[in-house]
Amino acid sequence: MSDTVSLLTKFNFLQNFASLISAWINPAIIHNLEKYHILKKVHYLTAIENIEGDYLEFGVFTGSSFCHSIRVHQMQKKYCGEHTAMKFYGFDSFSGFGSMESDENHPFYSQVDFNSNIEYVEKRIRRVAKNTEYKLVEGYFQDSLTSGPKSYGIDKSKIIFIDSDTFSSAAQAFEFCSTTIQQGTYIILDDHFSYCGDINRGVAGAFKEFIEKREIEVRLVFHYGMGGSVYVVSNM
Ligand SMILES: C[S@@+](CC[C@H](N)C(=O)[O-])C[C@H]1O[C@@H](n2cnc3c(N)ncnc32)[C@H](O)[C@@H]1O
Repeated sequence: MSDTVSLLTKFNFLQNFASLISAWINPAIIHNLEKYHILKKVHYLTAIENIEGDYLEFGVFTGSSFCHSIRVHQMQKKYCGEHTAMKFYGFDSFSGFGSMESDENHPFYSQVDFNSNIEYVEKRIRRVAKNTEYKLVEGYFQDSLTSGPKSYGIDKSKIIFIDSDTFSSAAQAFEFCSTTIQQGTYIILDDHFSYCGDINRGVAGAFKEFIEKREIEVRLVFHYGMGGSVYVVSNM
């Protein structure tokens, strides 16, 4: 055993302290901190590749990740210089999940109240956005996404963030995005391992079905938090 290791074993209180902090911290905080971290990485990675297009978030809730994405975009000018113009789009019912298919029921999603308020979220985002262009679209995806991306002025997607948890909502979001996706688009899948890891259910099932149907090749870039994954479109 090296001297350092044998010294560390004598300081069990340090291990206990680290363990106590790790056990005490709320998993939702760990998830959100790691989500913020990967949003920063994804903005950076798309900027240094000069990927053109917009940021599309499906499942905005109170706007935390949406605001963070705008902040990162604004601040990274310091590291990456001027980047291509992009607009931020957020889609949500702002009234929670609505009616879910019976096989989409999930013990956690039905417990949490995902009702929010678009006026409050708008106000929160406006304070952060300043000159950054953004648009919130209110409505269930089955209604708000049927007119297609061009109806909102969206041509290409740079970053797609799927944070609406269920198979049907994710499938509707992917279908909406299909013509906007290009090589280099980053796709963030929150809750990628829900429904006991079933690859055919939830966000994972919708993603698998979508890339197979459209013959889109993707590469895993990293995992984060309590079961999120990030992919980049490598060929299509
Ligand atoms: C986990 S929350 C999003 C959290 C947010 N991205 C953040 O990190 O701050 C999930 C959101 O998806 C929305 N949602 C779920 N299914 C939807 C659907 N079919 N149509 C519209 N919004 C939906 C809910 O209203 C809820 O606000």
